[in-house]
Amino acid sequence: MSSKRIGILTSGGDCPGLNAVIRGAVKSCSQLGYDCVGFLKGYEGLYDPVQYIGLTRKNTTGILNQGGTILGSTNKGRFAATVGVSDRQQIDRELLEGVRATVDQLGLAGLICIGGDGSLAIAQQFHEFGIPVVGVPKTIDNDLSATAYTFGFDSAVACATDALDRLHTTAASHERVFVLEVMGRHAGWIALHSGIAGGGDVILIPEIAWSFENVCHKILERESRGKKFTLVVVAEGAELPGAGLVGREQQAGQARLGGIGQIVADEIERRLHREARVVVLGHLQRGGAPTTFDRVLATQYGAHAVRLVVERRFGEMICCQPPRMTGVPIREAIDQIRRVDHDGDAVQAARALGISFGDQPTEDSPFTSYQEMVHEIESRLESAEEAADAAVEDANVEAVVPV
Ligand code: F6P
Repeated sequence: MSSKRIGILTSGGDCPGLNAVIRGAVKSCSQLGYDCVGFLKGYEGLYDPVQYIGLTRKNTTGILNQGGTILGSTNKGRFAATVGVSDRQQIDRELLEGVRATVDQLGLAGLICIGGDGSLAIAQQFHEFGIPVVGVPKTIDNDLSATAYTFGFDSAVACATDALDRLHTTAASHERVFVLEVMGRHAGWIALHSGIAGGGDVILIPEIAWSFENVCHKILERESRGKKFTLVVVAEGAELPGAGLVGREQQAGQARLGGIGQIVADEIERRLHREARVVVLGHLQRGGAPTTFDRVLATQYGAHAVRLVVERRFGEMICCQPPRMTGVPIREAIDQIRRVDHDGDAVQAARALGISFGDQPTEDSPFTSYQEMVHEIESRLESAEEAADAAVEDANVEAVVPV
């Protein structure tokens, strides 16, 4: 008799919609007469010690809109299979044998692995070792090729857009430059989409090389039109001109990115003598309830992943290729990161609106060169100082202290 039990796990960084996938898979299993078990803490729960819970309609009720994952997750540990984008590590044979024994002992018809690029690289090694796996793509970065959308992305964009909406009003009131640092390790999708949706003026992403000169150009061009505030959105993975990625090296695994926003703000202040503030959105983008779009997408992923197991299409990842949900080999899906096309429709639309990517001087800028712009700033500063001196004389006070 063929096995009627399916295993499921969530691996890597969490994101909104993981619970919706679990619920979708469990309900779908139940309809088809399958039991479901969920392994705890990602791949770690598969072996030594094996840790899992039975998943039923009852204990997955009410989790559709919950952030995080009821199964727990990790992007570190014994199963880490990736260091950089194309840097794969081989998992220990003893671990692979241990996992296979767990799958056999629990009589699993298949194992659904929900994860991003690194986690799916582990699933691929399981597959090559003969363990029956199917993949579900997850990452807020939306950077997996083969699928138009990963769940969690829409929720992260909604979070970043909301932050920009809030920054907009305070930036305008105080005539400040605000820099919003968002996630996006290899790809700038979150920065691009939230920048468009939230009315950003400058968007800096890993795919487009940019310069401080051009960013400053945009800020001054806005000022020349009476707009005395500017919103800059920067992806954490955007490279600093001439200096590369900003973050901390980690002992094992990937570098922890972060900090570029502060550098951008400091440099704007230094060059333009304008007040520039920074907000780092960080893990807020990974928390909270999934958006409606992500709930629908995640539920479909859960149900279709079960279908792949039932059809014994092991080694495949379910993906969204509108209007269809279809399976592709995991190997193909993880081979290539899906990056923003710098000539793509979204970038073109943004440019058409006057959004700067920091790669070229603003077209309708009042300055013909960066030098001219700097000169203008310096003379403005001089006039401001002269005005302050005059005010001191007129008021017969000690000094006018700039605040
Ligand atoms: O891959 C998704 C992601 O959110 C990246 O944008 C970010 O660099 C990374 O995860 C952060 O992971 P961690 O929480 O482990 O620092």
